[in-house]
Amino acid sequence: MSKQKLKILESLDYKILYTEKQIQKRVKEIAKEISNDYANKNPYVVGVLRGAFMFLGDLIRHLDFPLTTDFMAISSYGSSTKSTGVVRLIKDLDDNVEGRHVLVVEDIVDSGHTISYITDIIRTRRVASLKLVSFLDRPNRREVPVEISYKGFDIPDKFVLGYGMDYSQLFRNTPFIFTCKHLPSEENVVKR
Ligand code: IMP
Ligand code: MG
Repeated sequence: MSKQKLKILESLDYKILYTEKQIQKRVKEIAKEISNDYANKNPYVVGVLRGAFMFLGDLIRHLDFPLTTDFMAISSYGSSTKSTGVVRLIKDLDDNVEGRHVLVVEDIVDSGHTISYITDIIRTRRVASLKLVSFLDRPNRREVPVEISYKGFDIPDKFVLGYGMDYSQLFRNTPFIFTCKHLPSEENVVKR
């Protein structure tokens, strides 16, 4: 990590929750589970933008069989650290998924609204199967029930950043997952 980035993180009073090594180890383990279940199914792997892009990239590198990758994006409302509901679909799947084994990839499931909205849409399309893999789960904040078939870690009720996850679009490119006492703002992070 650059001195400059470390300085910024220190100013936020950050604390690492999962190191890059711990993350990569867990991703490999999840990939192994998924490989056992999907190796002959040519799954349609759907990442939920934007947060899931990094986990999806790492995960599918370990899946050594044919698969399709696509993305969905929705806009949600609520404060920056709490999504309270879903407004609309911004990006839909590019292909017809009828008869396909769909695996949705998320960074984190919190209230469950985002993933329920997405899976409800996919479920109407007569897919062969539909399962969810989420790197993180914060179960004590759940508002709607969600079934997570493959999961990285359960986390406590604290906002996290890094490994694809952001606050105000910042820190998605950090390879570890961390919490911080002071949330970042563009002013104190982006140099102009
Ligand atoms: P939910 O709809 O409340 O389940 O929230 C899920 C979405 O909110 C995820 O797709 C994340 O993008 C985002 N999110 C939830 N918790 C966090 C967090 O701690 N850090 C960053 N993003 C989060
Ligand atoms: Mg997300």
